[in-house]
Amino acid sequence: MNFFPTKPVPDSQTNMGRPAARYEARAKVTGAPIYAADATVENPLFAYLLTGSIAKGRIKSLDTQAAEKLAGVIKIFSAHNMPARKAVKHMMAGGVVGDSVLPMADGEIYYDGQIIAVVVAASFETARHAAHIIEIDYDEETPAADIDAAGVKTVSADADQSTGDFDRAFASADVKMEGVYYTASQHHNAMELFSTTAVWHGDELTLYGPSQFVYGLKNSIAAQLEIDPAKVHVINPYVGGAFGGKGVMTQRTAIIAVIARELGQPVKLVATREQGFTIATYRAETRHHVRLGADKNGKLLAYGHEGFELSSRADSYKVAGTSNTVEMYACPNILTRVNIVHADRNTPGFMRSPPEMPYMYALESAMDELAEKLEIDPVELRRINDTQVSPIDGRPYTSRSLMECFDQAARSFGWNKRDAKPATMRDGDWLVGYGCATAVYPTNMMPSAATVSLTPDGKASVKVAAAEVGQGAYSVAQQLAADLLNVPMDSITVEMGNSLLPPGPIAGGSMTTASIGAAVKLACEQIAARFGNDMPKADELAAAFARIGASQIEEYAEFSAGGGADAIKSLYAGKIGGGAQKKKLMFAFGANFVEVRVHRLTREIRVPRMTGAFASGRIINPRTTRSQYLGGMIWGMESALMEASELDKKRGRYTNSNLAEYLIAVNADIPHVDIIMVPETDTEVNPLGVKGVGELGNVGMPAAIANAVYHATGKRIRDLPITIDKLFG
Ligand code: MOS
Repeated sequence: MNFFPTKPVPDSQTNMGRPAARYEARAKVTGAPIYAADATVENPLFAYLLTGSIAKGRIKSLDTQAAEKLAGVIKIFSAHNMPARKAVKHMMAGGVVGDSVLPMADGEIYYDGQIIAVVVAASFETARHAAHIIEIDYDEETPAADIDAAGVKTVSADADQSTGDFDRAFASADVKMEGVYYTASQHHNAMELFSTTAVWHGDELTLYGPSQFVYGLKNSIAAQLEIDPAKVHVINPYVGGAFGGKGVMTQRTAIIAVIARELGQPVKLVATREQGFTIATYRAETRHHVRLGADKNGKLLAYGHEGFELSSRADSYKVAGTSNTVEMYACPNILTRVNIVHADRNTPGFMRSPPEMPYMYALESAMDELAEKLEIDPVELRRINDTQVSPIDGRPYTSRSLMECFDQAARSFGWNKRDAKPATMRDGDWLVGYGCATAVYPTNMMPSAATVSLTPDGKASVKVAAAEVGQGAYSVAQQLAADLLNVPMDSITVEMGNSLLPPGPIAGGSMTTASIGAAVKLACEQIAARFGNDMPKADELAAAFARIGASQIEEYAEFSAGGGADAIKSLYAGKIGGGAQKKKLMFAFGANFVEVRVHRLTREIRVPRMTGAFASGRIINPRTTRSQYLGGMIWGMESALMEASELDKKRGRYTNSNLAEYLIAVNADIPHVDIIMVPETDTEVNPLGVKGVGELGNVGMPAAIANAVYHATGKRIRDLPITIDKLFG
């Protein structure tokens, strides 16, 4: 076994750019103050949140007398004296927030960890101490807090799809497979905590806070405070990890903004790790009822998938992943339903591959179970049912390299050494299992604007208010501009994450490169046009500038993603989406293979190696792309074996809201990751021909691991994460 990793800096192949180091690499490893909470503001006050410890009921009394007497305490805000904020709707109900319950509007408690008071003091330590000596008395009711609790309310999510006659086809299929699968809640737990710093200058607000979308945050806070968005300035050059958790504004932002306005002084909040579990969003737990019917040769005849997704009482957050799973395999009879389960919890939200991770886990587990019943190799079952058109509406794929990924990954992994019979491969006391699964992610785009400028000495700058969440956005913008302007990369500066810059897309849906790349390309082409269309070579640049009599060129460009002027308007208004409808199916694909070892006696599970092959159109930067696949695969493995937000079901309270007990993989958990980038050319998806890479990596691994654990042990666990206890009995 090879315990050394594959080359961390991959070579470029066909349709791939240079593996450049990331723009902010030096700043990051030297600890430069680049994150929102690092911002130094003049004369700040410090806020500390007090969050509730019941999941349902109301506050009977809140005694702040002792806390208020502490030296350094400025003011304690609660339902009694909290400045008003507008109640705005959830983003999926046409509003702008990720959680619509307005904390401290009254004494009602809708979920555990709700904000019930805010202490503002001269120091963080004083504020924290004061918060801890506030006495609260509750009128407590019994919550229904998990997906299976009595008292939850299940409603249709209005996302059902069908084609053909599923019931008849399933009933008469030669081979049938039926299973119920479950995925756990997860919290993003980015290294960077949630923070908000609010500074008012008269009626103008400057906000520093981690955000995947500064134009979204700017417009959302303006809506909630009922002020002109032009009076709001959001600054956040780098995000210290987001994974979806910093995409949509939650209630703390308005709370801190109105408190700062009332006190007439800047206020800084850095919420604790534990508070991050309930003042922001998370990945909801889901349940799936999957039915597959096939003929004897393995051709799918029927696919049924009913999903159940947890949400809060107030909001209807949903991911409805069946809209993607129905496109995966040729199948004439499909029936899907999605349900929302309203419980006494905070509202969940986006988390890396929000629909694909849970729904593909269910489908790809079911495919593995079906393959065994059919006695067909799991890779061959995917090949038999591979399709280049939508089973639902016949739309063609722009490109689909699923089987190329399977073939390359299988070869590299050594899939042919697998004995199909489960629980037969051994190495001493270790039961050895191989598993595989499909990875997929839709290719999205948003409109984007960008400004590119160039001077005769070859120095250039790119400005776009996109978000760097660790994916390498600055580097990609820098590389593209370098190639298009014929100048070296290091003579280009990039600015992002500031709402004074031209707007860019949300760093979500794996669409930053496609969207900002198209806008940067347009701006660079406009610069070339100033010289008469052919961009001069670097050593001819000064002469070319002299020829046109310019000392600097600055070009602003707008890429509408096919959505026209309305799309640009909606981008400036901070709305997510806004591009044209997709006339063809656009997806990136991958294939994940994994070896697991389960100890014969202790049932300890180890993962000695994983292989992932991915095809994602043109790759601008193979180095940062590899990092995305690597991190994604590790997260997928973690989702299968470790990661879960544990809930005290009786109290509706998370019990592992800290990094000691919330399990994430460390290096020792993952000895060898083999990443293959399958070259793919797609000229239709978008102007650059790029598909997203950020969310593709964590989609296939959960099922691949579950399938490998079954192969090792003969025991099918349909309930993530697969922990040792589930393998006993
Ligand atoms: Mo990502 S979960 O699409 O912000």
